[in-house]
Amino acid sequence: MNYQAYVFDAYGTLFDVHSVKDAIHRSYPEKGPDISKDWRDRQIHYCMIRQLIQGYRPFDLVTKWALIDALAANDADYNEETIEQLMNQYQRLEPYNEVSQLAVNNPHKELTIFSNGTRSMLHPLLENNQLTNSFSLISADDPKVYKPHPDAYRFAQEKLNQEKEDILFFSSNPWDIAGAAQYGFHTAWVNRNQAKWPELGLQPTHTLKNLSHIPDKSS
Ligand code: LAC
Repeated sequence: MNYQAYVFDAYGTLFDVHSVKDAIHRSYPEKGPDISKDWRDRQIHYCMIRQLIQGYRPFDLVTKWALIDALAANDADYNEETIEQLMNQYQRLEPYNEVSQLAVNNPHKELTIFSNGTRSMLHPLLENNQLTNSFSLISADDPKVYKPHPDAYRFAQEKLNQEKEDILFFSSNPWDIAGAAQYGFHTAWVNRNQAKWPELGLQPTHTLKNLSHIPDKSS
């Protein structure tokens, strides 16, 4: 039997988090790529810290904190207006090319986004990209437990009402693939940049170059 549910990470998998580079460049010429990378690295790092200390704070707040520190670390002066402008850009990230065809190419599958992002971040992002009707949405802010903690994937499985082995979980983030695999989902690592899989002691079920072709269980 084939997979019954396709579940996608959002930031980095469906949406290019570095598509904010141009907005950053407008405020900080020549620093866009460095600030964008530092912002994403801190966002994930701070999210993991908050999870490990069992001090959940919503992803929009953690993302704002990460931005403030990324700007400071790159000697970029900022004020509340700059922060608000860049945070608003997070609602206008660009989807990767093949995302708009996912629902068309998989008419008999329910497509779900399972993201650490809050609904207040994800709803406008989907709306701004005309993708609201293409995906159902599960946010880690619902159970207030971040991926890659197993309780986050357990929550998603309960919402999907599917057996673990019937769920194919897609992410470009190895930490997210590791969490989903350890929990028991089949996983598809979306490796757009042909990176080496990190030594984490487990492997993704599938490795994809992009989301143009989705494998079945026999692949
Ligand atoms: C997501 C990011 C954090 O969960 O990968 O969408």
